Amino acid sequence: MKKRWENQNLCGIGRREARTSFYRDSQEMISLNGEWRFLYLEAPELSPQGFEKAKTDEAWDTIDVPSVWQLRGYDSMHYTDTEYLFPLDPPYVPTKNPTGIYKKTVYLSKEWTKQDTILRFHGVDSAFDVWVNGQYVGYSKVSRLPSEFDITNYVNEGENDITVRVYKWSDGTYLEDQDMWWLSGIYRDVELINEPKQAIYNCAADGSLDESFKDGIFTADITLKQAEGEGNYILEYNGNKVMQGDFRTDDGTVHLEERIPDVKKWTAETPELYLLTVTAGQHTIQVRIGFRKIEIKDGNFRVNGQVILLNGVNHHDYNPKEGRCVTYEQEKNNIILMKQHNINAVRCSHYPANEYFYDLCDEYGLYVIDEADLECHGFELVKNYQWITDDPAWEQAYVDRSVRMVKRDRNHPSIIMWSMGNESAFGCNFRRAAEEIRKLDPSRMIHYEGDYEAEVTDVYSTMYTRVKRLEEIAESKSKGGKPHILCEYGHAMGNGPGGLKAYQDMFRKFKRLQGGFVWEWYDHGIYAEENGKTYYRYGGDYGDFPTNENFCIDGLLMPDRTPSPGLLEYKQVIAPVEITKVPGKKTEILVKNYYDFRSLDCIVLNWALEEDGMPIQEGTIDTLHTEPHGKEKMTIPVQPFELAENKDYYLRVKACLKEDELFAEAGHIISDVQFLLEIRRDVLTEREKKEKLQIWEERGFLTVENEEITAKFHTVFGKLLSIEKGGRVYLADGPEMTVYRATIDNDMYKKHDWMNKCFIQTGSERTIHFDCKEMEDKVVITIGKYFGCVNQSWGFACEYEYTVFSSGQVRVSIDGKTVQRGKMEPEFLPRIGVCMKASKDLQQTVWYGMGPGESYPDSKAASVMGIYRNTVDGMHTDYVFPQENGHREHVKWFGLSDGNQTMLCKAESALGLNIANYTDESLEKARHPHEIKKSSHVIVHLDRHHSGLGSNSCGEEQLEEYKVKRQDFSMTFTFSIVDAGKEIKEARKQYLD
Ligand code: GAL
Ligand code: MG
Repeated sequence: MKKRWENQNLCGIGRREARTSFYRDSQEMISLNGEWRFLYLEAPELSPQGFEKAKTDEAWDTIDVPSVWQLRGYDSMHYTDTEYLFPLDPPYVPTKNPTGIYKKTVYLSKEWTKQDTILRFHGVDSAFDVWVNGQYVGYSKVSRLPSEFDITNYVNEGENDITVRVYKWSDGTYLEDQDMWWLSGIYRDVELINEPKQAIYNCAADGSLDESFKDGIFTADITLKQAEGEGNYILEYNGNKVMQGDFRTDDGTVHLEERIPDVKKWTAETPELYLLTVTAGQHTIQVRIGFRKIEIKDGNFRVNGQVILLNGVNHHDYNPKEGRCVTYEQEKNNIILMKQHNINAVRCSHYPANEYFYDLCDEYGLYVIDEADLECHGFELVKNYQWITDDPAWEQAYVDRSVRMVKRDRNHPSIIMWSMGNESAFGCNFRRAAEEIRKLDPSRMIHYEGDYEAEVTDVYSTMYTRVKRLEEIAESKSKGGKPHILCEYGHAMGNGPGGLKAYQDMFRKFKRLQGGFVWEWYDHGIYAEENGKTYYRYGGDYGDFPTNENFCIDGLLMPDRTPSPGLLEYKQVIAPVEITKVPGKKTEILVKNYYDFRSLDCIVLNWALEEDGMPIQEGTIDTLHTEPHGKEKMTIPVQPFELAENKDYYLRVKACLKEDELFAEAGHIISDVQFLLEIRRDVLTEREKKEKLQIWEERGFLTVENEEITAKFHTVFGKLLSIEKGGRVYLADGPEMTVYRATIDNDMYKKHDWMNKCFIQTGSERTIHFDCKEMEDKVVITIGKYFGCVNQSWGFACEYEYTVFSSGQVRVSIDGKTVQRGKMEPEFLPRIGVCMKASKDLQQTVWYGMGPGESYPDSKAASVMGIYRNTVDGMHTDYVFPQENGHREHVKWFGLSDGNQTMLCKAESALGLNIANYTDESLEKARHPHEIKKSSHVIVHLDRHHSGLGSNSCGEEQLEEYKVKRQDFSMTFTFSIVDAGKEIKEARKQYLD
């Protein structure tokens, strides 16, 4: 039995030829969004007899359009990265083929029926048939492209019945195996268009530049619906007419060509747009034109003659409640957020977005790689990757996807490359697609990462290439010396990506490397609630199997639109204004302009002289004129000042927008840096001598006490048990060494070795000796310990020295010497530090260190030194999939407070800090945030060393310098109990011994 949806060469029945989308259109439209009657079936063959004719009966449900039916209670949610969900036998799909029949009645007026009626679907997943008033209209597929049907001959004045039958699986599914949820239905807008009998069918307009990039070359190819017609056109800039003319045709086509002297040029930094209005008879359309020229010269792609650098991100359609249904408002917010985070490019991975997405990119200024809806990744798993890619029997299907995309989107100046798809190996069908794209539009570049040899592409594109390999590419002339981009890198799964700076340094250093696109913009978690708590689901949460679980939670933006620390990091790393300090000079800075087209006239520098992170002098410099790609030295006019005691001084410089721009207001921060000024006035004070400390011991418990403090130790277990004052416990369990952190997604390939071979989570300490020495004004307790993990030959010999001062301070010094008496050990350790417990009442935090958000050794560009306050819960970063988070680098002191009293802890040299209401074990165990078991204590980590994050869930490991190797270490920190509000004052004191 031949089925329509199992024939790859049937690209459509009755579907109109693809055409350009217009920015504005005078035609009247009726939106068919909203309620439709709906019948869900397990196979198309189960459709009730005459369904296309009959009115729906009561048994039918209603469904809102656009939507995906899996999120309306039909079928089931399923996520896979690469696997198809059925046996591979192209073009055949399962007999059990979830099917949705949609029906809607629409009233058309007499006026309306005088003109033609076009039914337009902007996106239906994956294939569908259409009937109007019981008559068959046609069939279409390619889930993420529009389909139009002329239904003039099927409609009447009055009520009209529209029936759409949508198939989840079709031959098209073999070409739509992108890494995402499997979702079906009419998921983009649907509308009826009232098209005049004489109308503009197509208008492919282009704005290019002459040789000297001065004058604009405007061309437009207009196709009318009818053969004979006449009309006129106007081109405007900011409401001012730039050119106009008339046309007449007797074959339905019109070619326009004009030169526009001294044109305003479009770039992502200067999104200058002209408005073209074309009128023919009753019909007027508008198209926005951006004048710009893309070319490849001397091994680089250029925009308007300038070699550009793409600081991009990969974009999927995504909404936490609606799956792949997005709205204009949401996409607008996405684009504004991208712009605000210094992103200048976006790749439509791995299918064309809604039409308005490109309007927004044109308007706000983003370079776009538009990608065809094509991926057949599942074939790689069966080692027949080229199965259909290199089979000419599939040529038409491949070409159709590229051609329809180009025809729809070619008017958008933001699009600089056409991508033929993703992860589908290479073969004859891509060669053909490239040819067809070039025929249609030679003005843009062709991209496809799967063309590994860059045989037909204009750019050499790779993904997740390691920094070292990137350098080799940069220095070689491989692949015909074509310019290189990373279409994906910096996998933003969970906590990360770290190490972005290393990539940016490469892009900026080597001309052949023209940037990359972080994978990806959004975490694809699906909204859920449990006991009033919101959380987000991922693969497996619906019982779906096989699945790649939380591999879809890999975005810079969390599902609730919270920018992740990774996004803040990316923003700073790619900031187009780079500010560094001139070596040896205190107040001289070097400003580099990484904009490709804008001079820094658009930037003001807001500077501050900071004392422990608080401004004491401030000023603004608005005399920057640095040319694109240029640099300029500046002296910050810091006035002489008196050094206060025991404070650090920093120079803080923020590059801000001088004026309001479309995406942000004047003052918006583009780049924010801080430099430590190596000037300090250290003043030492003597510790107060208070009442003599008493010591007593009882069955292993040793107490050191006076009015100021009570410190309890265990002589057998060799540890500090608590720090108390006035009968209250502050520290509830003293420091013990640890090398473990709850694994992050980027540790996924190390996790097994770490946890099942080296058992790093099982660290324990054995007591070697315990000594207590009473001195004049203090008690010194030294404890020898051996730290190791289950069945490991490596470990640390640790000396803990506790000094309890009569002033009430308790100083802890730890000295660890590494030991290895075998041959097996982890390549590196997540951390080297100590963990302790504080009283649960101490829920307010204050620290002097990096902040305000989390930071890690290879991800701290967006953090600066300061004194920050938060709560214990507020220290937590709520990753959809729980994992190590909330670390703060370079902490010089911190306090935990109940609002009245604060336990202050001051480090001799800065340490890494984590404070949480849960243990690492419960963090590791939880699969969703609401499952993290609360601890009965506040858990505190102080780290001498903490490993980087890397991006190894898909990409680069932690770079060598961010891997903590087993090594000797030492750390010293002092506790004291102070009145809340006095932390800063006390923390600044430095004592004589
Ligand atoms: C790439 C692929 C993306 C996504 C990513 C991992 O291989 O192109 O679609 O799967 O890996 O998140
Ligand atoms: Mg894939």
